[in-house]
Amino acid sequence: ASVLLLWAVIGYGLGSIPFGMVLARVMGLGNLRDIGSGNIGATNVLRTGNKLAAALTLLLDAGKGAAALLLARFATGAEDAAQLAGLAAMLGHCYPVWLRFKGGKGVATFLGLLLALHWPVGVGACIAWLVGAGVSRISSMGALVAAAASTFLMLFLGAANALLLGVILTLLIFWRHRANIGRIRAGTEPKIGKKTG
Ligand code: G3P
Repeated sequence: ASVLLLWAVIGYGLGSIPFGMVLARVMGLGNLRDIGSGNIGATNVLRTGNKLAAALTLLLDAGKGAAALLLARFATGAEDAAQLAGLAAMLGHCYPVWLRFKGGKGVATFLGLLLALHWPVGVGACIAWLVGAGVSRISSMGALVAAAASTFLMLFLGAANALLLGVILTLLIFWRHRANIGRIRAGTEPKIGKKTG
């Protein structure tokens, strides 16, 4: 049990690093809270107009989710510790102590941890994101489609042992996107890359 607690703490710590916020600061793009949705993720970094910063945010936020899961897996050899570390990284990203628990929506971290969990599921979720976002031109729509698809992907692509994790992550992503869902329903959710001030 203490091993699980240790990996939960390490996962949370990794997940809580707000790469988008840090990159926007360091690269002189301003405070993400004053831009677009105010969110700390790659979608909102892209609204500054800086594609490199957005791509780095996507990679690093995905990387921390993958890293948490892989580190726990290789250190313990146990899938429960690996899954817990991945879940903790998501919670760290969404509720980071450093930002008074006001973090992001977890989409990049979710995709990264799924790739590390079982790569066919991760690839499937990325494709689901691309289809959802590609058709609608809305990032949050991609996130909702990918989240909704993830449990089915786990069932059909050989990761049924992660089903509980999948359900929790799907609910968490929908919960974190509740403002986006409201805007989608109202027809006011902005398209990808549209600059807002
Ligand atoms: O990654 C979060 C994305 O799904 C929505 O971001 O900034 O449009 O709320 P945003």
